[in-house]
Amino acid sequence: MEEFTGGDVYQKEFNPRSYLEYYKFGEGTLGDETTIFYLECLCKTFALGSMKGDTLIDIGSGPTIYQLISACEAFETIIASDYLDENLQETRKWLKNEPGAFDWSPVVKYVCELEGNRDKWAEKEAKLRRSIKQVLKCNVHLGNPMAPLSLPQVDCVLSSECLEAACSDHESYRTAVKNISSLLKPGGHLVLCGVLETTFYMVGSRKFSSLFLTEKFLREALTANGFTIVQFKTQPRVDKVMLDMCDFTALYFIVACKGTKA
Ligand SMILES: C[S@@+](CC[C@H](N)C(=O)[O-])C[C@H]1O[C@@H](n2cnc3c(N)ncnc32)[C@H](O)[C@@H]1O
Repeated sequence: MEEFTGGDVYQKEFNPRSYLEYYKFGEGTLGDETTIFYLECLCKTFALGSMKGDTLIDIGSGPTIYQLISACEAFETIIASDYLDENLQETRKWLKNEPGAFDWSPVVKYVCELEGNRDKWAEKEAKLRRSIKQVLKCNVHLGNPMAPLSLPQVDCVLSSECLEAACSDHESYRTAVKNISSLLKPGGHLVLCGVLETTFYMVGSRKFSSLFLTEKFLREALTANGFTIVQFKTQPRVDKVMLDMCDFTALYFIVACKGTKA
């Protein structure tokens, strides 16, 4: 088992620019496989599906916005959040289109293609920039993860690859689900995506621990916190070469409803 890399290690050693290497889309990185799976699921849920609402909070956004590209078709207001100020700065840089901001256009173009509108990628970027109204500090280990802010409950909470990075054991994972659930309206949706049976991932030359998750555990953790699972999709890993970057065996995408689905 890898030594747990908690918040203090993230503060000192998580390098957003090194992490973004995974998102140089189409360059054959391990990120291509994971990103394509997430984007397709997110597109079906938010752009082509029926889920709609006023506000979505993305928890543990990191320095990335790929997870929000289809969401801006379904929600008028998006709040991005992360534990690290450096990640928030990276996102703000992209929002303001500042020099040196990460180039998300290959990913945005891919999503436009999925949504059937490839020519409109520049408009899509502009729409996403307008939709992301706040970029806030969060901590999934706090009863109110957005403390000291107290936000009205929202229609959707999204989180990609965050809880497995932030939690050291199953108990803290269950508690973190409860914490982020407090941000959701009853009947609202929690959308989670990430990696199964993973013990680590690399950010540059630094190894970060990941909590080993199984489908069984995830189903139990959500049900125990009062969620009804609407969708649980998994996909086995295709890449067999880049095991030194991250040892996940499969990807997951979950949609769960807070309470009983009407
Ligand atoms: C693997 S990255 C995922 C980033 C992004 N969501 C993605 O899909 O690429 C894990 C993220 O979890 C964040 N994180 C770690 N501990 C956290 C905590 N206690 N609360 C909230 N976020 C945390 C890290 O700062 C990092 O951005």
